[in-house]
Amino acid sequence: MSILSSTPAAIADAARLLAAGRLIAFPTETVYGLGGDATNDAAVAAIFAAKGRPSFNPLIVHGPDAESFAGAVVFDDRARLLADRFWPGPLTLVLPRHPAATVSLLASAGLDSIAVRVPAHPIARDLLAAAGTLVAAPSANPSGRISPTTAHHVEDGLGDKVAMILDGGPCAVGVESTVIDLTGPVPTLLRPGGVTHEALSQAIGPVAIAGPVQPQGLKSPGMLSSHYAPTLPVRLNVREARPDEALLGFGACGQAQLNLSPAGDLTEAAANLFAMLRRLDDSRFAAIAVSPVPEHGLGLAINDRLRRAAAPRSS
Ligand code: TXA
Ligand code: MG
Repeated sequence: MSILSSTPAAIADAARLLAAGRLIAFPTETVYGLGGDATNDAAVAAIFAAKGRPSFNPLIVHGPDAESFAGAVVFDDRARLLADRFWPGPLTLVLPRHPAATVSLLASAGLDSIAVRVPAHPIARDLLAAAGTLVAAPSANPSGRISPTTAHHVEDGLGDKVAMILDGGPCAVGVESTVIDLTGPVPTLLRPGGVTHEALSQAIGPVAIAGPVQPQGLKSPGMLSSHYAPTLPVRLNVREARPDEALLGFGACGQAQLNLSPAGDLTEAAANLFAMLRRLDDSRFAAIAVSPVPEHGLGLAINDRLRRAAAPRSS
């Protein structure tokens, strides 16, 4: 495996590797993705194996534009409106599977829906255009661990499992895409992310928020309780850290080891979240304490990831 700067030649090589059924990691505006040809069962199976991901957890299918999904999923008016408004960008639409879809059933975990997204990162868009196939791509981290926002994070977690890592610098958004389910009459937010609940409701009216579910009844397995987890224990809504805790601050909070955004800006905090959790996880402290983060806008996605990082571990 090698980390390559994303020259046109490197992007063309990555596209050839995808066509040959290999796995490559690439930058998106949210987090780095672990990409494989979504129509190739063996490539999709290799993604699950590389991540150690439970196979009931379906993958997001990426394309260069909305048109690329024409024979894969069925768009209704709400889906078209959201695609026009937010693509390319950090929004994933769960839509009914098209009867003629060639997307691997393994990618959608056998569901009759498929999650689709057009990422905004220019390298991702060039790669997807060059690949000439839809690309299944979960975040490029071992299942349950912190998502990668730099090429080096990918190398740390999955370096020996990918044929190539395309480097696009740090991810600008820093938390994963928002996942919205449009298969039923009521649009439902399955995972808060880079596009806010407020922005979605402004575009299409009321959007329900799915409650946490058990793995057996999984609607969006990003809802598994422990996820995005550092090695150290995490304690939330802390105003004063204990002596053996590293404080991850937000806003004006005094003595923090690192601060997500000293100015209290949620966009900056989202972009810093995963990289700062990793740095504190590697520190000499016994635990990570986190300042309160307001529960609106991108704060919903940040708090969702933090609650999972703090959730009791199953192993
Ligand atoms: O920002 C992102 O979305 C990144 C980048 C690489 O695009 N990808 C990502 O993928 O976060 P992943 O696999 O880590 O998360 C996919 C989420 C999971 O919560 C999964 O359960 C949900 O999307 N999902 C995928 N297909 C689904 C479906 N058919 N129905 C319901 N949820 C689905
Ligand atoms: Mg993930």
